[in-house]
Amino acid sequence: MIIPRPLLEKYNQSLPRYTSYPPANYFTTGIDSKQYAQILNGSNLQQPSNISLYIHIPFCKKICFYCGCNSVRFPEASVVDAYVKALLKEISMVKALLDPGRKVSQLHYGGGTPNALPVEYIEEINNLIFSNFNFIAEPEIAIECHPAYLTDEYMMRLVKSGFNRFSIGIQDLDPKVLKTANREPSALPINHITSYLRGLDSKIKVNFDFIYGLPHQTPESFTENIRSILPFSPDRIVTFSYAHVPWVKKHQMALEKAGLPDADSKLKMFESSFQVLLANGYSDIGMDHYAKGEDELLLALNNNELHRNFQGYCTRRTTGQVYAFGVSSISQLYDSYVQNTKSISEYIRKIEANEFPVEKGYTLNFNEIVVREVINQLMCNRLMKWKVIADRFALSIDELQSIVHFEPSRLDSLVDDDLLDVTDEGVIITEKGRFFIRNIAVAFDPAMVNPTDKKFSKSI
Ligand SMILES: C[S@@+](CC[C@H](N)C(=O)[O-])C[C@H]1O[C@@H](n2cnc3c(N)ncnc32)[C@H](O)[C@@H]1O
Ligand code: SF4
Repeated sequence: MIIPRPLLEKYNQSLPRYTSYPPANYFTTGIDSKQYAQILNGSNLQQPSNISLYIHIPFCKKICFYCGCNSVRFPEASVVDAYVKALLKEISMVKALLDPGRKVSQLHYGGGTPNALPVEYIEEINNLIFSNFNFIAEPEIAIECHPAYLTDEYMMRLVKSGFNRFSIGIQDLDPKVLKTANREPSALPINHITSYLRGLDSKIKVNFDFIYGLPHQTPESFTENIRSILPFSPDRIVTFSYAHVPWVKKHQMALEKAGLPDADSKLKMFESSFQVLLANGYSDIGMDHYAKGEDELLLALNNNELHRNFQGYCTRRTTGQVYAFGVSSISQLYDSYVQNTKSISEYIRKIEANEFPVEKGYTLNFNEIVVREVINQLMCNRLMKWKVIADRFALSIDELQSIVHFEPSRLDSLVDDDLLDVTDEGVIITEKGRFFIRNIAVAFDPAMVNPTDKKFSKSI
């Protein structure tokens, strides 16, 4: 797949990533602990009834210069200890308000670097969760890991404490790329990590994360990364497009100084890794994600049932309302997003005072919930049928089209450029259109019809 360069120039705009709808920079301050308690209570009556738990560990031993995550350098041990104690208490405080009949379908640790914590802490958090919540059969218990800090013993203890999916942040294998990005290489060979984990339990799934668009990367070198890990047969692969947002993450300026690849090289990195992965049994999911074989995500994609939350793509089976714990973490409930404070000291202080450490949030009105469904359908399943969505909300097609401010002429240029097929039933994103999915989504977003003062990363 080669993406025509004139289209790239035309569509490489600053747009929301739609990790959530509305995007996180629409969240407003003013939410307090009591309101959050009410929202939690209300979520028991909303769908989905399954629970997804997200645990945020913000600490990293070093900060990678490309990092766009909510991460901080490791503070002193007493602060880490107080943070984990606060996390345990926050989990118990939320648990007390949830209907005990509800089940957990997904537990995800992200960061920061969860595996930079002493493993005893992770075991303690999991013990609390497993002894207090009921789980569905075969839940997804996932952790993001930096391979520089994985040892056999650490991995063994993670598996014993329940994890069945490991996302390994490879990013790039070239020492020069990693060094310029201020990142340590893997301590163990990647094939050892993969085979050791699978040897502990054949049901364990291993994902690899890569990132493209960093200094010293070329289309050839990045593709070589991908080729070299194919023999290890990871279950899923993500090739993240580097999001350069130095106005939010000042440390990213260091990469600008080191020299970022131009848009054309970056696109070639994407194109050639895409070709190599598709030629080797992987299928593409959403943007930049790949899976192979009988993967649940592929089955969901084929049935138009793929979903997304802040933790990534998921299926109807494992998607619950997301209850998030730790600094900066965002709960994603049926009609509300609620984000915790980003300050570690404030987080600990509030939890110690028996308050939820919430800071920002957003409550969606009915129309926004409908728009979110339309955008999710497009972003995840690459098509949108008016009647299917209208039926879901007991609306007529006219009512649905008026909610998304549907204006057929807004799609003309997408159709002329062969990114989108429009039928009476709805729209289907073409193969070429998959690479311009954010540009397509904005055409259905009433909030983006008029110019906005919000800043977003470039769409390519
Ligand atoms: C929390 S990190 C993964 C865990 C661990 N801290 C690590 O670095 O391996 C989640 C993923 O976000 C991706 N990421 C971080 N900053 C990014 C950025 N600015 N643009 C795109 N992807 C980014 C990285 O590929 C990383 O694997
Ligand atoms: S990429 Fe991972 S290790 Fe690097 S700073 Fe971000 S969260 Fe930390």
